[in-house]
Amino acid sequence: MRLTDSGRKQGGLPRSSRGAAAVVGARAGPAILLALGLAGCSGQQSALAPAGEGAERLASLFWTMSAGAVVIWALVVGAAVYASRLRPGPHSERIGRVLLWGGTAFSTAVLTGLLVFGLMLMPDLRAAGDGLKITVSGEQWWWRVRYLAPGGSGPIESANEVRLPLGQRVELELTSPDTIHSFWIPPLGGKVDMIPGRVTRLVLEPTRTGTFRGACAEFCGTSHALMAFSVVVLEEAAFEDWLADEAAPATAPGSAAEALGQELFLQVGCGACHTVRGTAADGAIGPDLTHLASRATLGAGTLPNSFDALVRWIAHTEAIKPDVRMPSFGALPDEHIEAIAAYLEGLE
Ligand code: CUA
Repeated sequence: MRLTDSGRKQGGLPRSSRGAAAVVGARAGPAILLALGLAGCSGQQSALAPAGEGAERLASLFWTMSAGAVVIWALVVGAAVYASRLRPGPHSERIGRVLLWGGTAFSTAVLTGLLVFGLMLMPDLRAAGDGLKITVSGEQWWWRVRYLAPGGSGPIESANEVRLPLGQRVELELTSPDTIHSFWIPPLGGKVDMIPGRVTRLVLEPTRTGTFRGACAEFCGTSHALMAFSVVVLEEAAFEDWLADEAAPATAPGSAAEALGQELFLQVGCGACHTVRGTAADGAIGPDLTHLASRATLGAGTLPNSFDALVRWIAHTEAIKPDVRMPSFGALPDEHIEAIAAYLEGLE
């Protein structure tokens, strides 16, 4: 009764419409759940829309196990319906023995089959890489990414975005200075923990180009949910061009506003934490900003990368990302924040 009263107080629907809505809701509920579930099967962050060798194997394991689960579910429910509805009452000892030994043999066979199938996938998942190496360090709460080209050049540092060449088996070395994170790009491969004091490995072999989304898959602190990254798979030649651009120092300010922004950036101390290669800014605590403008997002997948978002980020960092190590610079005059944002927006 209380619920109905409060519903009426809040200006809810009349009783008859509420009843109808509830019936429609009850009927639509499973359909909505199914639609939501299926929507999760595609898109940038779906393990069931594989774009990499590892993810393809894991998806095949998932579908095999799901099919097995459906068959077992049907058998168990079928036996229960038979015993309770079709032939209720006491059953012979023979049926009991069939169920006992049949059930034991069946479970053993199915679980052994799945174990063998799962083990057979492992050597391929763990095979070594054959070219580029990338180290990724999970920070609070962003990703430090370093490219080590086979020629021995580098490392070339970037952040919150991983670019991969199509068709190569790229080895990722995963670490963390202080907290356990879990590195996961669902469409490309399995998830691997980043553990302080250890180096864990993941080999990814993309099978199609595109932009995907990765995320931290283990609770690591206040802003765990604001710790994503973009993954861009490029044709090999396009990747080489991009890597060469990424290795170059930052472009010089192209306008008076950008030049003022650069001056302020250095003056207020941004360079103590951030590096902009080719300038005096060489801090190593926060993300390298040398080519910030070429990335899709700000704050590790938290905001789109635009001028307005940069202004918001600089002024309200702690409100946008709780417990982030970067302090808010909201005390600066608006025109100074805008000049710094203009400078950063020019760092292609
Ligand atoms: Cu990093 Cu959760």
